[in-house]
Amino acid sequence: MTVSARITGTGRYLPERILTNQDLERMVETSDQWIRERTGIRERRIAADHETSSSMGAEAARAALASAELDPREVDLVIAGTCTPDGMFPAVASRIQYAIGAPHAAAFDVNSACNGFLSAISTATQFIGTGAAQHAVVLGTETMSRILDWSDRTTCVLFGDGAGAVVLEAAQPGEPGRVEAPLLRSDGSQASLLYATGPCTPGQAGIEAEARLVMDGRAVFRSAVNAMADICSDAIAAAGLTVDDIALCVPHQANERILAATAKQLGLPMERVFMNLDRYGNTSSATIPIALSEASDEGRLQPGDRVLLTAFGGGLSWGAMVLEWSGVRAPLATAAVAAGARAS
Ligand code: ACO
Repeated sequence: MTVSARITGTGRYLPERILTNQDLERMVETSDQWIRERTGIRERRIAADHETSSSMGAEAARAALASAELDPREVDLVIAGTCTPDGMFPAVASRIQYAIGAPHAAAFDVNSACNGFLSAISTATQFIGTGAAQHAVVLGTETMSRILDWSDRTTCVLFGDGAGAVVLEAAQPGEPGRVEAPLLRSDGSQASLLYATGPCTPGQAGIEAEARLVMDGRAVFRSAVNAMADICSDAIAAAGLTVDDIALCVPHQANERILAATAKQLGLPMERVFMNLDRYGNTSSATIPIALSEASDEGRLQPGDRVLLTAFGGGLSWGAMVLEWSGVRAPLATAAVAAGARAS
């Protein structure tokens, strides 16, 4: 028998340092107006020198565990979606597992770039479904600022750093909230549209090599809209629902125009699309769990709500899912520390 999973806690961590569009005007030939009109982004967070994907992820995980009122010793699985690990190995998830004090948990990373959180939650849902895990912490955590070319105005204005986490637990009969595995797709033939080099890239200078993100923004834009609109329709149909049943869409936060075009294709009003990219930019795999955590804290998610999640990114790789919200408790003291780092 398959066991259903439900989300019982959410948390996020945003680094304190804010980089505004005005700051970027002093770094590359760009303007606040261009960035706002083409993307919707006003500012983004940048990790401090000592911060990493694992340190930010650990803060988000602690906040999620506090809101779930779950002892970390009960956690038996930690999965981190990340494409900006602290190093080639060990896994960011293993570092987080140690940092939060979860000695009984298996831990590993998944990398499908901006789609990493959906890949991670897919894996965790299926661990819980088979009974292999009872309590999972699932993250998206990224330090995009470390793989950007800060002299390339076509990419450096788009991204930011941060982490989000959810706690997934096996659902008991009668409890509200369900998470089914998302639909996931990939088209590796389009890898050259969006990629980052690293120390294992052929022709790179080994350990001296710097990771660097490269993107054909226009082509990615077109693919993203069509792919997300199609897979969202499929996910809604697979859940036996129509778009009118979706209380809120919490999408990957890449670009306001991508989201508006996708919502239009789906017939979903923008009032039902959650957006915070004006404050954080694109934090890759972290955007969805950060947004879920904010939407929950702001009271935009009620128990029983059908919530559509969708993401698109390097790979190319994309996905969508409809979940039933279970009703997450308001953040407690420790959650407020991490959540309190958001823009004020
Ligand atoms: N400031 C000022 N001008 C700029 C900047 C900048 N930061 N960047 C590019 N330009 C210029 C270009 O050089 C070009 O000038 P030209 O006409 O003289 O050649 C002009 O602006 C228009 O460039 P386009 O690339 O056509 O601009 P577009 O409207 O497509 O917007 C953008 C670019 C924002 C990157 C858009 O294509 C986009 O959002 N693509 C999706 C990329 C993305 O979000 N990737 C994230 C990962 S994938 C994902 O998360 C979905």
